[in-house]
Amino acid sequence: MPTIEQARPWYAGSDAVHAFDHVERVYAMAERLARAEGADLEIVRAAALLHDTGETTPGAEERASHHFAAADFAAQVLGEEGWPVERIAAVQHCIRAHRFRDDREPPATSEAKCLFDADKLDVLGAIGVARAVAYATLAGQPVFARPSARFLQSGEKEPGEPHSAYHEYLFKLCKIKDRLFTPTARTLAAERDAYIKEYFVQLQAELTGER
Ligand SMILES: [Fe+2]
Ligand SMILES: [Fe+2]
Repeated sequence: MPTIEQARPWYAGSDAVHAFDHVERVYAMAERLARAEGADLEIVRAAALLHDTGETTPGAEERASHHFAAADFAAQVLGEEGWPVERIAAVQHCIRAHRFRDDREPPATSEAKCLFDADKLDVLGAIGVARAVAYATLAGQPVFARPSARFLQSGEKEPGEPHSAYHEYLFKLCKIKDRLFTPTARTLAAERDAYIKEYFVQLQAELTGER
């Protein structure tokens, strides 16, 4: 079983939004969910430690396939540790199924659901606000830009329209609470969802001088 200290250097070159502190939070939350769900702790822990080892940098072309790269790396690491093939496959499934923007392989096992939910809780609440703002900044995008009617309707941006942190909230973050699988995560998400929602309400009120 890879240890937290063994995993730390895997993230040495990661961007600030997917640095090791994110992995540590996902690891702790995934473990909590796994205990509540009766999921296999060793598989969940290994998947949490390995899930973002692919290229996650905002704007990087390889970001779209970071879950595949991380699953390949997981096979290498766990193979070297002598894990049985079926347990390696179980970890790889968790990792490939963790990406919100890719629904080709949805979480099919209890372990994959725990990793998915733990990873997604980290985009909500106070930590979610901090990460959404940091992500926009890293990607060279503003914290707020008024979304076009087209974006509001279809999620498709007009030519030249920025993808602000608020765009990301509308495109993904506001939908997360309804996409979670485990009861514990759904309960935690309710409060975190309300918090990040209120942040964007307050932000817009400040920008218009209303508050
Ligand atoms: Fe990821
Ligand atoms: Fe992640």
